[in-house]
Amino acid sequence: MAPKIIRTVAALRKEMAPWRAEGLTSAIVPTMGALHEGHLRLVREGFTKADRVVTTIFVNPKQFSATEDLGKYPRDEEADVAKLAAEGVNLVFAPDPGEIYPSGFVTAVHMEGPAKAGLEDKFRPHFFDGVATVVAKLFIAAGADYAMFGEKDYQQLQVVTRMARDLGLATEVIGIPTEREADGLAMSSRNRYLSKQERQQATAIHKSLTQAAAKIRAGGKPQSATRAAIRSLTTLGFKVDYVAARNAETLAVPKTAGEPLRLLAAAWLGTTRLIDNIAV
Ligand code: PAF
Repeated sequence: MAPKIIRTVAALRKEMAPWRAEGLTSAIVPTMGALHEGHLRLVREGFTKADRVVTTIFVNPKQFSATEDLGKYPRDEEADVAKLAAEGVNLVFAPDPGEIYPSGFVTAVHMEGPAKAGLEDKFRPHFFDGVATVVAKLFIAAGADYAMFGEKDYQQLQVVTRMARDLGLATEVIGIPTEREADGLAMSSRNRYLSKQERQQATAIHKSLTQAAAKIRAGGKPQSATRAAIRSLTTLGFKVDYVAARNAETLAVPKTAGEPLRLLAAAWLGTTRLIDNIAV
């Protein structure tokens, strides 16, 4: 059955209130539409945690900079809703920008910590405050028990987890492991832009992270392991933005031995930017 499409916060609350009254739990899957297999996986995981799943489709203007083309972001609500219907999603919340940011809107969630780790934020400085602001609004609007986020965007996952904790929001953020191709490449809608040769080269990102993690586990210094990964990726033709070992939760540079670590990488192959991360 096609899910109901909800356009206003008031209507969303009206639809979700009876679930709560009946003791049913809910999960929210925030998206900007253009749904792919990764999003549908989050929906399926949502159903393993909760009785009802709400997917939000909202292309958030606040996470685009003046030089990024908001108007060109792919939008196909009909196709998205058909995919969500096939997964049995209960509601689609697809508000207009004016519903989320009404005229005169001047409030923002500004974050330090994982949002200012010098990773993705170094390349898109405006991005995480925009994400934190819209995700806070979506959590408050829906009041769901859980929110599903992919580990593929690991910095985003840590940012929204911290934000929900700091603001005392009732929604628990659940991170879902990255889906990988058989050769280890993290699944991403960007992989389709890789040429046949680049697609083969691309597996080196996951391989170099795996090797760096093994070195650190064997007692090697995180910095020398990541430097070796950068060298090997550069030799293979990547333009590396970063390979970094960070505290798995705060994303700060590790200070003490035994901290839980995450290895994160971003690198260009031709005109395609790939990101990946793994636990140490
Ligand atoms: O990951 C995304 O698609 C977006 O950053 C999110 C979380 C839906 C917020 O707009």
